[in-house]
Amino acid sequence: MTIERVIVVGAGQMGSGIAQVAAGAGLHVILNDIKPEFVEKGFTAIKKNLSRDVEKGRKSKEQMDEIISRITLSTDLTNARDVDFALEAVIENIEMKSDVFRKLDEITPPHAILASNTSSLPITEIAAVTKRPDKVIGMHFMNPVPVMQLIEVIRGLATTAETYKAVEDLSKRMGKTPVEVNDFPGFVSNRVLMPMINEAIYCIYEGVAAPEAVDEVMKLGMNHPMGPLTLADFIGLDTCLYIMEVLHDGLGDSKYRPCPLLRKYVKAGWLGRKSGRGFYIYE
Ligand code: CAA
Repeated sequence: MTIERVIVVGAGQMGSGIAQVAAGAGLHVILNDIKPEFVEKGFTAIKKNLSRDVEKGRKSKEQMDEIISRITLSTDLTNARDVDFALEAVIENIEMKSDVFRKLDEITPPHAILASNTSSLPITEIAAVTKRPDKVIGMHFMNPVPVMQLIEVIRGLATTAETYKAVEDLSKRMGKTPVEVNDFPGFVSNRVLMPMINEAIYCIYEGVAAPEAVDEVMKLGMNHPMGPLTLADFIGLDTCLYIMEVLHDGLGDSKYRPCPLLRKYVKAGWLGRKSGRGFYIYE
């Protein structure tokens, strides 16, 4: 199937990045959120990123203007009535995501594929609230979306080969590399990444080393672009805790228990970069 018209529901950091990349690939994109100020904030981030591309000579001003002209801002989900593809990127909450999927299932045409950018929630469960579970799939982008190469494509129990193929083609068209995984808690990315971050937090909790030392070891010793604690602050400590809980509950193994220090930081409101303080302090 040909995908030309797309709606991205949720204009936060992930949703706006996805809209930018989709419009950059020539798709017509509706960027949707519940409040005009959320949509505007996402759009401002897109324009800032594209202006940087122009400054750095990666795009011409004309290309930037063309990309921007392919993005329509919306707070009305009924605008999804003629899309071929919907990508949900709202907060990680099963009720909220299910509600978006129920609405998208009613509004979008029958041929449209409905994808979720969830980092850890079960695609099969989200698909079950729709009448088209065969056309529901996970499309997990990494942050920052314009930079990161991977899209983890998650097949739900009912996802068909046709749906997978369409999303694989779309990912490549967006200049990304799709990797197929099945629907298990945390998929692959977070099943491997989050226990590493959690273990780095245990190193602080048990006094093995200071945060800077843990990060230096992993950066210089393992060639990671960011140390695990800097990355945890970047992702958000509330998100890290949430994903550890999904792994712990879903897989039932004590090796996924969240570190008590992570819980304490989240309770204190030390959520990382977005709150100004996590393992590091941000001005
Ligand atoms: N949006 C768009 N572009 C961005 C960006 C952003 N938020 N942040 C950085 N960039 C771009 C910049 O344009 C920059 O290129 P130019 O300077 O040429 O314009 C380029 O990335 C490099 O940026 P910096 O020089 O500022 O910094 P850096 O070299 O340290 O790279 C990084 C930044 C790409 C974020 C790098 O540190 C990195 O790869 N970190 C690891 C990121 C990672 O692991 N992401 C996955 C998180 S897990 C996840 O997303 C899934 C989940 O479910 C939790």
